[in-house]
Amino acid sequence: PMIHFKTDEEINTMKESCRLAAEVLLMIEPYIKPGVTTERLDQICHDYIVSHGAVPSPLNYRGFPKSICSSVNEEICHGIPSDRKLRNGDIVNLDITTYLKGFHGDTSRTFFVGSPRKKSEKLVEVCRQALQKGIECVKPGARLGDVGATIQQFAEGHGYSVVREFCGHGIGNNFHEEPQVLHYGNFGEGVEIKKGMVFTIEPMINEGQPDLKILPDKWTAVTEDSSLSAQFEHTVCVTDSGVEVMTRLEGRPLFYL
Ligand code: MF3
Ligand code: CO
Ligand code: CO
Repeated sequence: PMIHFKTDEEINTMKESCRLAAEVLLMIEPYIKPGVTTERLDQICHDYIVSHGAVPSPLNYRGFPKSICSSVNEEICHGIPSDRKLRNGDIVNLDITTYLKGFHGDTSRTFFVGSPRKKSEKLVEVCRQALQKGIECVKPGARLGDVGATIQQFAEGHGYSVVREFCGHGIGNNFHEEPQVLHYGNFGEGVEIKKGMVFTIEPMINEGQPDLKILPDKWTAVTEDSSLSAQFEHTVCVTDSGVEVMTRLEGRPLFYL
């Protein structure tokens, strides 16, 4: 088991895949409206990715049947696009991973469908900020436990809980590589962060309890108590002095909410 450190050249190539994944999230936003099916969103993303010379990484990954993951309301992650119509007040996370020039780029965002409920707005905003604070911990010499502890403290401080069963991950030529990036933990513990590491941070934050169950489709993770769950994800690389968010579009905020 080992971490694959990337050269500057590999990171530059990987940025192209990451940029494409980020562009998909920007492109798809206007289509997210009451009445649209998640299958339709999947189709549009699939066509965009393929037309840009890339492959959607989720498609056929360990048998996953679609090109993106779409997780609505109490769905935590790995929701399978279907004929389900989105409704006003829903929240939906779209998780986009592209494979371009030999590298994966992975990013996700939770969107509001129509006009958000106050409690959805609060949860989604805390999740977004949790990711931001996690990213701010990344620099050479820090530890992955610092990232997890920061996210956990922030989310729990707002009365929410952090999902334990899924984590961020190293990424590169493989969709999921070492190290695991937990969204909870203790400061000063875990793997030391070093230049050339590339990994995702992707906290899943629940309104209620952290517990989950997997639906009979074998993929969709839902909160056991049916409470709302939000998620944001970026792919980051460690530089000499700190961190670069590879799935952030140039000239745009970390998240264009
Ligand atoms: N994109 C997800 C992640 O952030 C993984 C999806 S695996 C799939 O790691 F098979 F469900 F697509
Ligand atoms: Co993802
Ligand atoms: Co990921």
